[in-house]
Amino acid sequence: MLPYPSSDASGESVSDPQSATPDKIRIIGGQQLKGTIPISGAKNAALKVMCAALLTDESLYLENMPNTLRDIASQTELLTHLGCTLSAEGDLMAINAKNVNELTAPYEIVRKMRGSILVLGPLLARFGEAKVSLPGGCAIGTRPVDLHIKGLEELGAEINLEGGYINAKAPKGLTGAKITFPKVSVGATENLMMAATLAKGETVLSNAAREPEIADLGECLVKMGAKIEGLGTDTIRIEGVKNLSGAHHSVLPDRIETGTYLIAAGMAGGTLKLQNARIEHLSAVMGLLAQAGMEIDQSGNDIIVHRNGLRLKGIDIMTEPYPGFPTDLQAQFMAMLTLAEGAAMVTENIFENRFMHVPELNRMGADITVQGNSAIIRGVKKLKGAEVMATDLRASVALVLAGLVAEGETVVNRIYHLERGYENIVEKLQGCGAQVEKTA
Ligand code: EPZ
Repeated sequence: MLPYPSSDASGESVSDPQSATPDKIRIIGGQQLKGTIPISGAKNAALKVMCAALLTDESLYLENMPNTLRDIASQTELLTHLGCTLSAEGDLMAINAKNVNELTAPYEIVRKMRGSILVLGPLLARFGEAKVSLPGGCAIGTRPVDLHIKGLEELGAEINLEGGYINAKAPKGLTGAKITFPKVSVGATENLMMAATLAKGETVLSNAAREPEIADLGECLVKMGAKIEGLGTDTIRIEGVKNLSGAHHSVLPDRIETGTYLIAAGMAGGTLKLQNARIEHLSAVMGLLAQAGMEIDQSGNDIIVHRNGLRLKGIDIMTEPYPGFPTDLQAQFMAMLTLAEGAAMVTENIFENRFMHVPELNRMGADITVQGNSAIIRGVKKLKGAEVMATDLRASVALVLAGLVAEGETVVNRIYHLERGYENIVEKLQGCGAQVEKTA
């Protein structure tokens, strides 16, 4: 296990967001995929357990961390700015927040990644004060944080918004409350759950989000001494405690990365073994992939996916909070539907602007029409390679998947987005026979 983190080791082994020079991926389509892909720890759980470290002055030791991701580097930068010491090696990370000496999360860091809003609840709960830049909109929608703010106010915080910052104060500490979310929100559930661990008395979060990453964060908090019941359900009860302590926690496997490679096999054909994956976190997706014509088996913690030469069938999907179909797999599934037999409809119910991949897929020969929050995809026989660009993580990976099956060469620009959320994607695909490389 890693040593107690020292200030000399403040995240140096976590990748530097500015360091990558190749910014494109070149793909020659047409190879079947055959081989084994190890699934990394879940980005959207890792980013949150890092924030949980702020709740204690003891060290938090994390395993199965996707340490090479840019988003993890951004969160490392933020925690270091606040005065935490971090060290990382392989997929291990140690964080110590004993010497936090700064309670402001500045715009320059928050703007890079919305996941940084998750420091708000822990800072406020432990130090009675926090100032966090409003994250603003992003490519996939306006993405307000009103539910985070309202929930913290219900726990007794005084909050005002000034100069683009959330100024939150709770000089006498937070007090437990019954909070019913008017809308299901992953981030608000997590922020409130973390804040409530150190509040006085009981907090009940109703209409809470049920994503597996939230339960993973909750399990980490329980190891730290928090009293939480109802994880994985829409009603989470937290009995506040005076202090939390250090702990060891292993982050759950990334269900979105898993789903992305399942879809890759569906598009390119062949057989993939996805190692250390959790099939039960993808139940909404598995049924649909089987309906489309894929064969999926489980062997211990591995998933084996196979598609023979037959064409997949078009399937309608609709994104919903967990356990429904995840918005984070919508773009990838749509890329697959471009080649399926017949027409299919994709409805995006979580984010209002998450169809940026559509014009790029159409440039590759797809036939997709968008109407409001739905897209009609008419399956075509083949896609053609092109130079493409996308503005968010999942849209970018959808274009990589399309490139794997398109005729000729596809160049995906601005792989910055991919590196935010997919560890070693080029190497993982190369290892299964794909002709893919990074280029400047
Ligand atoms: C998390 O974002 C994920 N990000 C997203 O993953 C994911 O798409 C999303 O959950 C939904 O599953 C991280 O975990 C870092 P929400 P989050 O709060 O927490 C609205 C990826 O590709 N809303 O559940 O920000 C919001 O605008 C990313 O890895 C409010 O109106 O999502 C959206 O329409 C992208 N007010 C809906 O709720 C609020 O205060 C769900 O958002 C908060 C949210």
